[in-house]
Amino acid sequence: MTHRLAAVAAVLFLQCAAMGQQIVAHRGASFDAPENTLASFRLAWEQGADAIEGDFYLTSDGQIVCMHDKTTKRTTNADLPVAASTFEQLRALDAGSWKDPRYAGEQIPTLDEVLATVPPDKYILIEIKSGPEILPALKQSLDRAGLEPWQTRIICFKQEVITAVKQQLPELAAVWLSSYKQDEQTGAWTPTIDTVVETIQRLDADGFGSKAEDAVVDEAFVARLRQMDLHLNAWTVDEPEQFARYQQLGFDTITTNRPGFIKQLMAQAGQ
Ligand code: G3P
Ligand code: CA
Repeated sequence: MTHRLAAVAAVLFLQCAAMGQQIVAHRGASFDAPENTLASFRLAWEQGADAIEGDFYLTSDGQIVCMHDKTTKRTTNADLPVAASTFEQLRALDAGSWKDPRYAGEQIPTLDEVLATVPPDKYILIEIKSGPEILPALKQSLDRAGLEPWQTRIICFKQEVITAVKQQLPELAAVWLSSYKQDEQTGAWTPTIDTVVETIQRLDADGFGSKAEDAVVDEAFVARLRQMDLHLNAWTVDEPEQFARYQQLGFDTITTNRPGFIKQLMAQAGQ
């Protein structure tokens, strides 16, 4: 352990001994393995993650696949629009080589395959990148997987998807996501905490997933959120100092590309 890690671990121990935050592996253990692949999710479990997070689209022929971007350009060997492609077209791609040659041949997984990796005592955050049209196929996939309701949380930026999840999958937690934009002229950030609170209440969301935007998310911001009965998640936190910050702010779960590294920090801090 380096001196820097030891110092951060000590701070974490003093600040956060009883906080018990859970660690969510962002697109799997995506710092080390190609994001949103079975290799990445399996590595996340090996690294001790409490949960995995993955991004999901409905294909043109009604399958659900795990992919972050609208196209396959960045993370495969071809450039296809995900929602307008068939499963067969997408499945033929190499989703591993871009990260490292040792992952050559890694395929884009289905939601069924990702769900099958979830151990009985762990859970998954399913980020919906499509619109509400994905929900019937999602429900079928969840029925096939047979996970307990607590093992699945639906997360999404799109408000209409959260509303549809509350209607069509009421047994699952629905978590609204938001990032923040700063006006170049005024320096003001949006959405404001008032808008965030109003949106969560209107959607009847069970949780809020906040971008870890240090200029926006502070104690006052979190205090307003804590006035509601909400699960609070922060994403995406990879550095020790920022992790300590979001622990201290009291987030219930913290999402990271480096679950093994963060879990090591927590272990060194006695957590
Ligand atoms: O967990 C939420 C986070 O994944 C949202 O951002 O762009 O990584 O899907 P993005
Ligand atoms: Ca995501």
